[in-house]
Amino acid sequence: MNLQEVDILITAEEIKAKVQELGRLVAEDYRGRDLLVIGILKGAFMFMADLIREIDTPLEIDFMAVSSYGASTVSSGEVKIIKDLDYSIKGRNILIVEDIIDTGLTVKYISSILHKREPASIKICCMLDKPHRRKTDIKADFSGFSVDDRFIVGYGLDYAEKYREYPAICELKASVHQKQEDRDE
Ligand code: IMP
Ligand code: MG
Repeated sequence: MNLQEVDILITAEEIKAKVQELGRLVAEDYRGRDLLVIGILKGAFMFMADLIREIDTPLEIDFMAVSSYGASTVSSGEVKIIKDLDYSIKGRNILIVEDIIDTGLTVKYISSILHKREPASIKICCMLDKPHRRKTDIKADFSGFSVDDRFIVGYGLDYAEKYREYPAICELKASVHQKQEDRDE
């Protein structure tokens, strides 16, 4: 981790404890029922991999990729499916796993698309939540940490595809994204 570019907000140890807690809650909820966990690429890949190992009840996984911000730190509200699910979700209990819910537009759009495919139920699990930035009425059923309006990288989250591999949840220093945005202008 380059500590000149980021500040650590949540350490890998704190993440691990939270993911264990979320995994227990999900397992309790779905015990004895079918469960299909759907990870939203790319941001959720690390959280999803850790989370499913803490869910002690049988499950299946699938992935969906949608476009989000591009290189900017501001949501356009535009979402496009880049990779769809491999399997039908009709009659299944699905748990959507997201890295972060910011405005809520992405997860709201994904839920509405999946709703039309007639699953038995839809729930949402996110690692991070920025509740103050919400533009929709969407709420996660399982949520890790609330964060203020800061730009987060690490633990799967990127800024222009960088920093995803950092094991901690970090804030990208303003000086770093400011420099990039000045270059883009
Ligand atoms: P929303 O549609 O505004 O809720 O944004 C959700 C998506 O935007 C997430 O899946 C992330 O890919 C991305 N995103 C939102 N906030 C951040 C952030 O602070 N850092 C990195 N990506 C973010
Ligand atoms: Mg992203």
